[in-house]
Amino acid sequence: MDRPIPVVLDCDPGHDDAIAILLAVQSPRIDLRAVTTTFGNCAVEDATRNALRVLELAGAPQVPVAVGAAGPLTGAAELGNYVHGRSGLDGPDLPEPVTRPVTQSAVDLMGEVLTAAEEPVTLVATGPITNVARLLQGAPGVRDRIREVIFMGGSTERGNHTPTAEFNAYSDPEALEVVLEAGVRPRMVGLNLTHQALATADVVDRLRAMDHRLGRVAAGWMGFFGSSYRQVWQFDSPPVHDPCTLAALIDPHLVRWQEAFVAVETAGRWTRGTTVVDLFGRLGRPANAEVAMTLDVRGYWELVLGSIDALGRQERPGEASA
Ligand code: RIB
Ligand code: CA
Repeated sequence: MDRPIPVVLDCDPGHDDAIAILLAVQSPRIDLRAVTTTFGNCAVEDATRNALRVLELAGAPQVPVAVGAAGPLTGAAELGNYVHGRSGLDGPDLPEPVTRPVTQSAVDLMGEVLTAAEEPVTLVATGPITNVARLLQGAPGVRDRIREVIFMGGSTERGNHTPTAEFNAYSDPEALEVVLEAGVRPRMVGLNLTHQALATADVVDRLRAMDHRLGRVAAGWMGFFGSSYRQVWQFDSPPVHDPCTLAALIDPHLVRWQEAFVAVETAGRWTRGTTVVDLFGRLGRPANAEVAMTLDVRGYWELVLGSIDALGRQERPGEASA
C-alpha cells in the first residue's frame, strides 16, 4: 500500500466537519499532521473547542490544533449556528476538552508542518478558506510544499446559504478567489457533489446500531444536523458534505472529477459568494480547478460507516462506555 497522505485539516466543526475528523484520524491512508480551525459554522473559539473534543473522542488528543481566522479577509462573519446550534456541535453532550490548542496561529502551524514535512502536504479545507488564503498570500514559497488543496465549497448549481451561494464560499469569497488564482489548481467539492451524500434513515440506523459510544454520538450528530436541514431546506436527510473531501483522498474511485475554469463572485449585489463553474468552456479561459461531479454513494457510506465503526471499536482506556 502507498504511504499515508500527510494532511492538514482546516475546518469549522460543525457536524459534518466532525465526521471528517473521525475519518482523517481512522483512515490508514491519511496521516493527520494537524487540525486548524476557522470561523464558519460557529465562532472560531467554538470551532476550536469542538475540534479538541472530537479529537479526544476519536482517541487522537495528540494531533495539534491551532486557532485560525475569526472572520473573513474582508467584511464581517456571518455564522452558521442556525444549522449547527449554539455550540456549533449541538446534539450529544461531549465533555469539555482537556487538551488545549497550540500557541501558534493556524497559518503559522500550517507553515511549520509544511516546512518540516518530508514530502508535500495536502491541505483539506472544509470551512471558509480564509486560513489557506492567508498561507498562500503570506509565503508564496510555501507553494511547492503543498501537494494539493482540496476544499468543500461552492457549487456548479444552486447555493444553500443564499439561493446562489454555498456557505463556505459565501463566508469568504475573497479568500476563495485567492486560492482559485494562486495557480495551485485546487480540487473543489461543491454542493452538486455533497448533496449526493445524504445521511438517510438507513445510515443513521446503522450508526445507532454500532455497539460503541462513537457510533451513538455520530448518530446523535446526524439527528441534530438532520433536524436543521428539515427545518431550513426541507431535506428529508442531511447532506454530509465535508467527509467527501477525505473520502476522495482515501479512495480516488469514489469521485468523478471534471477540470473547469472556476470563478467566485465577490461584487454581486445578490450573488456574492456564488461560484461560476464553466463546465462547457463558454468563457474561453483555461481550467484552474478540478470539480467533483459524481459520488459513488454506496462506496462513500461503506467507507464512512466502516471507519467510524473501526474507530469506535478501538479500546480506549478510561473511556466511559455510556
Ligand atoms: O455548505 C456546507 C458547508 O458549510 C460545510 O462545510 C458545512 O460544515 C458548513 O461549513
Ligand atoms: Ca464545514
